[in-house]
Amino acid sequence: MTEFDVEEVFTVALKAVKDAGEIIKEAFYKKKAVLTKSCAVDLVTETDQAVEKMLIGRIKENFPNHLFIGEESVAAGEKCDLTDETTWIIDPVDGTMNFVHSFPHSCISLAVLYHKDIHIGIIYNPILDQMFTAKLGQGAFLNDKPIQASEETELGKSLVIAECGTNWDLQTMESVLKNISALMNKVHGLRAMGSAALNMASVASGGADCYFQYGSHVWDIAAGTLIVREAGGVCIDTEGGPLDLMSRRMICASSEKLALQIIPLLTPLKLERD
Ligand code: IPD
Repeated sequence: MTEFDVEEVFTVALKAVKDAGEIIKEAFYKKKAVLTKSCAVDLVTETDQAVEKMLIGRIKENFPNHLFIGEESVAAGEKCDLTDETTWIIDPVDGTMNFVHSFPHSCISLAVLYHKDIHIGIIYNPILDQMFTAKLGQGAFLNDKPIQASEETELGKSLVIAECGTNWDLQTMESVLKNISALMNKVHGLRAMGSAALNMASVASGGADCYFQYGSHVWDIAAGTLIVREAGGVCIDTEGGPLDLMSRRMICASSEKLALQIIPLLTPLKLERD
């Protein structure tokens, strides 16, 4: 690849993410000033904004022509367009609700796409010092050690993550509750931990067998998609076809066989695309 040097981009990305992690660590156990976005449980803090600003500034110094889709920039009115250009997709604090409560399950999620393919995925929980990384075709790692999705294929033996989301409209709440009750007595266990990216990292590292969500955004899932796939798992659409990163719905699992047992149990939710 000539126009996109994955090693060069990865080096800058990793250093920037580590440095941004220091901003999160510094603020983590302090009282936060919290603002709401789309509803009372869709939160943003100064730290979300500071991390995104720092990351974009650092990346622009190194790659002035690259493009960005950042959660807080989009919230502030910037476009959310995914083109063939090199694009960095950033969630500065995924699990903002957890961050606000100092529940140590928040992370930075960063992906780099070229021609719409995800070439780099990084998910970093600075509080627990967990750095998940992947480069396309080169495997997935936790703190530099290779990780693998579990080998579980049976629904009844699977630990499944079903998020509650950050939207309190009636339709979304009904869908979340329907899906949880449809799975409740069919799986081994259900969890909801409040960070889409770390949920995907859990599937990639074999701690959970499946995670699905209606309502996630591209910045929640872009890095995790590569990390799960590079760890041997699958990320697909909740109707079973190929994943569309902008569609706001996704299921990832240790195997397609497992995902396809869960999909028929889910009640779809119609959502506006990113
Ligand atoms: C949220 C978290 C949460 C998921 C929501 C996301 P944020 O991201 O990942 O687990 O259920 O859909 O929006 O707002 O904390 O970056």
